[in-house]
Amino acid sequence: MTLEPNLLSLIHKSPIFPPFPDIQKNAEVKNFEEYEHLYESSIHHEEAFWLEQAKTLDWMRFPSKGLEYNWSKDEVWHRFFSDGELNVSFNAIDRHVRNGKKDKPALIWQAEDESEHRTLTFGQLKEEVERFANVLKKHGVKKGDRIAIYMPMVLEQAVAMLASARIGAIHSVVFGGFSSESLSYRLKDADCKLIVTSNVAKRGGKIIPLKEMVDKALLEPCSCQKVIVFRRDERLTPMVAGRDLWYHEEMASVSPICPPEPLNAEDPLFILYTSGSTGKPKGALHTQGGYLLHASLSHRLYFDIKENDVYWCTADLGWITGHSYVVYGPLANGTTTLLFEGTPTFPDPAIFWRVINKHQVTKFYTAPTVIRSLMKEGASLINPDLLKSLKLLGTVGEPINPEAWIWYYDNIGQNKCPVIDTWWQTETGGIMIAPLPGCHSLKPGSASYPFFGIKPGIYDEEGELCVHTGGGLYIEKPWPGIMRTLWGDHKKFIETYFSKKVGAYFTGDGSIQDEAGCYWLLGRMDDVVNISGHRIGTAEVESALVSHVAVAESAVVSKPHEIKGELLLAYVILVNGFLPSKELEEQLKQHIKNEIGAIAVPDTIKFVSSLPKTRSGKIMRRLLRCIARGELDKMGDLTTLADPNAIEELTKDN
Ligand code: PRX
Repeated sequence: MTLEPNLLSLIHKSPIFPPFPDIQKNAEVKNFEEYEHLYESSIHHEEAFWLEQAKTLDWMRFPSKGLEYNWSKDEVWHRFFSDGELNVSFNAIDRHVRNGKKDKPALIWQAEDESEHRTLTFGQLKEEVERFANVLKKHGVKKGDRIAIYMPMVLEQAVAMLASARIGAIHSVVFGGFSSESLSYRLKDADCKLIVTSNVAKRGGKIIPLKEMVDKALLEPCSCQKVIVFRRDERLTPMVAGRDLWYHEEMASVSPICPPEPLNAEDPLFILYTSGSTGKPKGALHTQGGYLLHASLSHRLYFDIKENDVYWCTADLGWITGHSYVVYGPLANGTTTLLFEGTPTFPDPAIFWRVINKHQVTKFYTAPTVIRSLMKEGASLINPDLLKSLKLLGTVGEPINPEAWIWYYDNIGQNKCPVIDTWWQTETGGIMIAPLPGCHSLKPGSASYPFFGIKPGIYDEEGELCVHTGGGLYIEKPWPGIMRTLWGDHKKFIETYFSKKVGAYFTGDGSIQDEAGCYWLLGRMDDVVNISGHRIGTAEVESALVSHVAVAESAVVSKPHEIKGELLLAYVILVNGFLPSKELEEQLKQHIKNEIGAIAVPDTIKFVSSLPKTRSGKIMRRLLRCIARGELDKMGDLTTLADPNAIEELTKDN
């Protein structure tokens, strides 16, 4: 991997922000020596370390085993606490009710309409979850069955997740911005028995007809028999008799008591689909005990959680950040967690700061793309009086550029809140590399040190260690939150994550370690891109494009964008008889929106007559990326190119 000279100078000259003494004084891990000691024991005495940490959860049967695994050439599996039994919803709710927190707010829902909000205490949440668990049971959902959740950011979405966990069903949350095609693929792939949805979603001043999308998805044959519909507003919603049921009517028809099912620590908890380098998303499977421990421990330590915190993570529940750091991690810690229905700029770009003030938010976690888009609006929109409650800030989802980091620190944190840059993935379940606020100095642009139990390694293509020169980031030992497999495809799981280097998990990201031992994340090394914090596989967009009658071939690449991080550019060869036009470009964009969702629509579609290919017919995406970025001088070796004319046509607008 060749590093940009300006990145290297950034690493060498980065400013350093030491831990704040007031945070340090009350933090669980108070200094670097303590961190090092705990880290060493998590790596070298992992059995004892994880069994000790497991005591922070409530078990129905405490495990005697910590980690068991085999990461060899032919076999890959890993288990944590395999003889332990617990229930995730009991840990997230009941134990806090038992510990005298019945009346403490568990979830605060802030509607897009600023005047509207609703709070569920732990006691109220318990009743809602137990009732919905009974609704699921009433409709035949049993332990191990899959249910889909396709909802807006409302309390009932979290209730549905926790109810599924309570009875040992496996939830597959599908982001409400995905199309009916994407939903249909996920329903079929996981054989979902039931879907929970909402008549509509409200976002950014728009109404999104979720139930209509479900109806469309269910035109395709699948095993989904019931649709439970939450009524977000009073509009007339066509319901299919015998299949569709109203959430509120179902809730009123069942008992409020549903004891938590004892589950093995390795029973599945949820499937979450994510983009990779192939045309179809893959379902990462997470299990109970290890996942919950990773989510709760990392949440408690990285966000320096205290009893009276009001914690707000802006991620949608449709993504892993929403699972681990809106619902499971915070609730397992008994923390008040806020769910916001809206977007960062509607009705205006000061909405986040008003929400922080209204609910007196103390810990705030968002994505660099949000920070950059608010930064563009200017600091004059920020009233520091609204931000007085804040104590700590976090970021996640993509590399944060130092300018955005400093802006966040200065303007939102008002120079008094640490900024915790957290690197992790859908597959990792929880935070992997990030500074602990009580003991690590902060360097804008670096995610700093690994979490307990995380053993990173940086290797080049030949498998040689290259920590200080940069290479692919691997993790050389299982950790509790790691996914166990890809739903229905363990072979692909091994191929995708464990075949590049035997005995190590390949993250797909590039990284470099500086002299102080801090990790700097350098972005993806495969064809996965990050658009506004959302992960998209370019192969998925290509496969959507070629499913259109007019498209013969396509190649999709990304280029950097000031606010979104990256944006997509598609090169398309048309089928004979179709001619390039603005209308066709719009049609293709609409087609991608229907096939995947608005987040995957390329910024530009370029019609071309050929694509640069090797003599064996492989598209040379490396060259397309250079062309898209206007970096013709970086195209390097062109000798393997089958037809040099392809480059001429592509570069003529540059
Ligand atoms: O490339 C890394 C980037 O996001 C990818 C994971 O995306 P996803 O599975 O959607 O999960 C996002 C939320 C955890 C990673 O492979 N990424 C995530 N956080 C960071 C990051 N890149 C740099 N710095 C981060 N803090």
